[in-house]
Amino acid sequence: MNLHGTAQIGQNHHLWIGGTDTVELAKKYGTPLYLYDVSLIKNRARGFKRAFQEKGVGFQVAYASKAFSSIAMFQLIEQEGLSLDVVSGGELFTALQAEFPAERIHFHGNNKSYEELEFALNAGVGCIVVDNFFEISLLKMISSKLDKKVNILLRLTPGIEAHTHDYIITGQEDSKFGFDLGNGQADKALEDVLAFEGFRVLGIHCHIGSQIFETEGFTLAIEKLFSHFKKWEESFKYFPEVVNLGGGFGIQYTSEDTPLAPEQYVTAMIDEVGKQMRRFEGRDLPELWIEPGRSLVGDAGTTIYSIGSQKEIEGVRHYVSVDGGMTDNIRPALYQAKYEAYVANKMNEKPAQTVSIAGKCCESGDMLIWDIDLPIVTDNDYLAVSCTGAYGYSMASNYNRIQRPAVVFVENGEEQLVVKRETYEDLIKNDIPLKTNVFV
Ligand code: LLP
Repeated sequence: MNLHGTAQIGQNHHLWIGGTDTVELAKKYGTPLYLYDVSLIKNRARGFKRAFQEKGVGFQVAYASKAFSSIAMFQLIEQEGLSLDVVSGGELFTALQAEFPAERIHFHGNNKSYEELEFALNAGVGCIVVDNFFEISLLKMISSKLDKKVNILLRLTPGIEAHTHDYIITGQEDSKFGFDLGNGQADKALEDVLAFEGFRVLGIHCHIGSQIFETEGFTLAIEKLFSHFKKWEESFKYFPEVVNLGGGFGIQYTSEDTPLAPEQYVTAMIDEVGKQMRRFEGRDLPELWIEPGRSLVGDAGTTIYSIGSQKEIEGVRHYVSVDGGMTDNIRPALYQAKYEAYVANKMNEKPAQTVSIAGKCCESGDMLIWDIDLPIVTDNDYLAVSCTGAYGYSMASNYNRIQRPAVVFVENGEEQLVVKRETYEDLIKNDIPLKTNVFV
């Protein structure tokens, strides 16, 4: 059993997180219930910052809010002094509602609309991470219309893609994101943005993948970027003030996962940038920015479900169904993601059977966990699935008209509901009944 953050087994043999009894919270708020271990999020945020501070490097740590966004989450990120990466008008709106300082917001995305960009510039966001030539033309229009100088980073695709232990190096990347470094697009984009006086070209951005366990992908990307910067220095007399190396730091979902400590990724990045800077005499080290999502909130999240029906197929499989599934966690169905789980009210009991955890959606693929060893369970029991904090609630849906769960933050024995459970009424709030005598 691999307990994360402040999770521990209480004297009542229940799973406790943040000094609160998860079983009591499940009874109070209903299930499925998302719990977030606030101290774990804070520790991660502080760990990332400390790694930069110890090396005396200028930095920003921007939380990739796609991992989990809500007003309370954004307030917590603001309290911790981090910046914020948003990728849509909706994420930006939520951040502004949370009174997140606009100058610490970075706006991402491969297809930002004119309206979204105008919204962002009017709000005064810190920078726009420019993804493509269409966006450059939209930004030029809006900057001229609003008579505003726009801080930009150019998103580059360096031809390195990393996943877990593997990274792939390709001359020309087949990606919908960014300007390709290998085929001249990045050079053309830089020339274009430098020539427009409404832009302040802060630097570049590069994100090589997600759930990465090694530092090599990052250091290779840095090497590629900085050797390209040498060419830019010669051709354009340009050197970036900011290098944003994206997110992607892995977490331990199950014992099969072997990520590094978050700080280790940062240290490796800083060291490689330091090494690369030897090519640039007289230049200051650029500010280094990162964008962790999963590693800030992933293992801080736990979902508590009520166990319901069971189906035993002799010699084949024992299904245990819970009252959620792909509607609150699409990752097993979408990515074959693996999770660990415990019976939150029987933490002292030894495993006695191998079961598979099924969701409640009308779909055979709605399985949360295949083959897990659990104690004997009944419909009075609660299942806690750990490490659901990233891309769980944020990718939730109303498939089968199932309501999205509630979210509760816990720390030091305190709890606070931060997202209400959806009601049946919420499910129909955008529905408009047919007018009489139409479509008859
Ligand atoms: N920056 C950029 C530009 C990104 O595209 C992403 C994630 C991040 C930062 C944060 O990456 P993280 O630190 O969370 O790995 N839904 C998938 C993950 C999609 C990641 C998309 N981009 C999943 O559930 O595994």
